Amino acid sequence: MAVITHIEELRVLAQKRVPRMFYDYADSGSWTESTYRANESDFQKIKLRQRVAVNMENRSTATVMAGQPTHMPVAIAPTGLTGMQHADGEMLAARAAKKFGIPFTLSTMSICSIEDVAQATDGHPFWFQLYVMKDRVFIENLIDRAKAARCSALVLTLDLQILGQRHKDIRNGLSAPPKLTLPNLINIASKPRWALGMLGTPRRQFGNIVGHVKGVGDMGSLSEWTAKQFDPGLNWGDVEWIKKRWGGKLILKGIMDPEDAKLAADSGADALIVSNHGGRQLDGAQSSIEALPAIVDAVGSRIEVHMDGGIRSGQDVLKAMALGAKGTYIGRAMLYGLGAMGEAGVSKALELIHKELDITMAFCGHTDIRKVGREILLPGTYPGSR
Ligand code: GLV
Repeated sequence: MAVITHIEELRVLAQKRVPRMFYDYADSGSWTESTYRANESDFQKIKLRQRVAVNMENRSTATVMAGQPTHMPVAIAPTGLTGMQHADGEMLAARAAKKFGIPFTLSTMSICSIEDVAQATDGHPFWFQLYVMKDRVFIENLIDRAKAARCSALVLTLDLQILGQRHKDIRNGLSAPPKLTLPNLINIASKPRWALGMLGTPRRQFGNIVGHVKGVGDMGSLSEWTAKQFDPGLNWGDVEWIKKRWGGKLILKGIMDPEDAKLAADSGADALIVSNHGGRQLDGAQSSIEALPAIVDAVGSRIEVHMDGGIRSGQDVLKAMALGAKGTYIGRAMLYGLGAMGEAGVSKALELIHKELDITMAFCGHTDIRKVGREILLPGTYPGSR
């Protein structure tokens, strides 16, 4: 097995092993991709303060996210079509998360279903991400299925009722399963590991949807489905309805503005995620790490603030925690591991991030992630102090 030392190596391997349309789907932002790029590059601008001669023994990265104890403040983000990066992808990633002791979030637009993941993890609790569609009976069913599978938090996405355009998906004719056109067949022929895996699993369609919505057999493209089915009328009244109907821990995903953060806190949700959807929705929006401090200042005492977007290392996790996040999520870092090496690749991604987090925390003079604050950052280099 290749020696893997950091997430970028997993990305390169995934690019070799995953068919172009699915690799591109993950590695894309909307329009010019400026927000997608800023999510990563803004982390690089933040400088850490090294401290020395501090006892580094007995370090802990453990904390709690939305009531769930976690080995490190990193959950797996919901990502669409994960089971197209690797056969049975969601089941494998959920197992890796369970073994590592961190939360796994299943997307509504997953390939493996809620029930598949519950079975793969032997009833170990995971989180379910909900997209609100026009068909409210289907939403009620999804919520009931998540309850039956003992999901321990519902992650309600608020920033994708319409889809930001990702040029590559249009060019590649993204669909699940892929259409067997000549260019697709030629590309898949160069990805034998992926193809063998896919031949060995029955899970090649949107598992939460196909077979659960009348008249939906083949969903074709994601963009068509979202345009037809997602509810553009979603508003705070619906959040209240969903909170009541779910009755458990609720996390609101996609908050970028302090005014929306205040509404999220007013809603009584347990946590919010500062997120621009990995730069896949509003191109030109701030990076997530840039948006984080103002939201923590506005509502951090009233609601748990999490963040996602641009995390490719444990150092990024540490910087987000220093700026007041109570937890972070990885989407692409996990997908790269999955596409590269299946479950072992996701475990590898988690190990790499954990090690970077643990050691960097120590270099900054801390032994407990829960005690890290803005004092580990160099003034003038982080958002809010620039
Ligand atoms: C779906 O969540 C997407 O960003 O494609």
